[in-house]
Amino acid sequence: MTDTRTRSSRESILEVKNLVMNYELKDGGMVSAVEDVSFELKKGQSLGLVGESGCGKTSVALTLLQLQAANARVLGGEINLDGINLLELSPEEMRQHRWTDISMVFQGAMNSWNPVYTVGEQIREAMDLHWDPKPTAAEAYEKIVELFNLVGINPEMIERYPHEFSGGMKQRAVIAMALSCDPKVIIADEPTTALDVIVQEQILEELKKIQDELDMSIIYISHDIAVIAEITDLMGVMYAGKLVEIGPTAELFAKPRHPYTWLILSSTPSITGPRRALAPLEGEPPNLLDPPSGCRFHPRCPFATDKCSQEEPPLSEIGEGHMIACWNHEQVPVTLATAEDDSRSANGSQ
Ligand SMILES: Nc1ncnc2c1ncn2[C@@H]1O[C@H](COP(=O)(O)OP(=O)(O)O)[C@@H](O)[C@H]1O
Ligand code: SF4
Ligand SMILES: [Mg+2]
Repeated sequence: MTDTRTRSSRESILEVKNLVMNYELKDGGMVSAVEDVSFELKKGQSLGLVGESGCGKTSVALTLLQLQAANARVLGGEINLDGINLLELSPEEMRQHRWTDISMVFQGAMNSWNPVYTVGEQIREAMDLHWDPKPTAAEAYEKIVELFNLVGINPEMIERYPHEFSGGMKQRAVIAMALSCDPKVIIADEPTTALDVIVQEQILEELKKIQDELDMSIIYISHDIAVIAEITDLMGVMYAGKLVEIGPTAELFAKPRHPYTWLILSSTPSITGPRRALAPLEGEPPNLLDPPSGCRFHPRCPFATDKCSQEEPPLSEIGEGHMIACWNHEQVPVTLATAEDDSRSANGSQ
């Protein structure tokens, strides 16, 4: 993990305030995919967004880029990128910011290279569309060589076709493409999920290196909390469309305060600590068409009280840069739960 302290004194690059986004279904139903999400990212910082599949991570990312599905309805909030609220821009104005100021490595993107063009041609096309003025052929070539070197691809591969790239190389090339307009913020959505563990490790290392070298701000999305631990300064935990805890990654790992964070860490094998019996996270995530009242986690929460099913807990600060949405966070033990749950001290400081 990088030096969060120095980075926390830096200028803010992205500020998301009270973002609300629903998907409207044909029958009039509304899927509450993003509910009152707020966070801030500073220049050079990396934020990991974690949470079970379907909790709204990709929906947040797509809304930030204003690339959400046609049935998505942004019902409120602000997305301030370097002082500009993206939600107030016209589609044409947004087009000028997308890729050049904020870009994204899409979930599964490594499988969407067009097989009939070389990878270099496809990156060049993206640069032609978004650079102003368009790059000359020589400038584009020079930039792609620089990007390939940065992401660890031999520049000789520029004129090769996607089928000549391995899975890991295709994913590196996707990252190169996302970097081709020198964005201020990059969002990487499950960028290593489809890859085998060794390639995943290499790409994570590479991303960390690139982030440091370019002093880039990155939002890293993964359902795998171990991946987030390795690469990010800040961690944001989402549950059923809501951000329930956010703070310095090391602090959340050492002392998770939200019951959901506590339970997912308790059900994740420790990377470095001793083996322990893992506490299961029981129950299923709720249906977002009709989310639970009050705190959305209350049907699965071991600390729930009557108030939890009636009143929604606000996201409030409990330490410097550490926010949580829970009425009863003082009840959460300082050590992780185990399967037996009577030997909670087994690994409380992983
Ligand atoms: N276009 C859509 N229309 C309706 N529901 C959607 C649409 N896209 C995603 N969803 C729903 O929104 C919720 C959040 O999805 P998503 O953002 O993809 O979650 P994650 O990336 O965390 O897995 C899920 O319940 C998903 O089924
Ligand atoms: S508010 Fe209540 S139900 Fe929600 S996480 Fe906290 S204790 Fe559990
Ligand atoms: Mg997703």
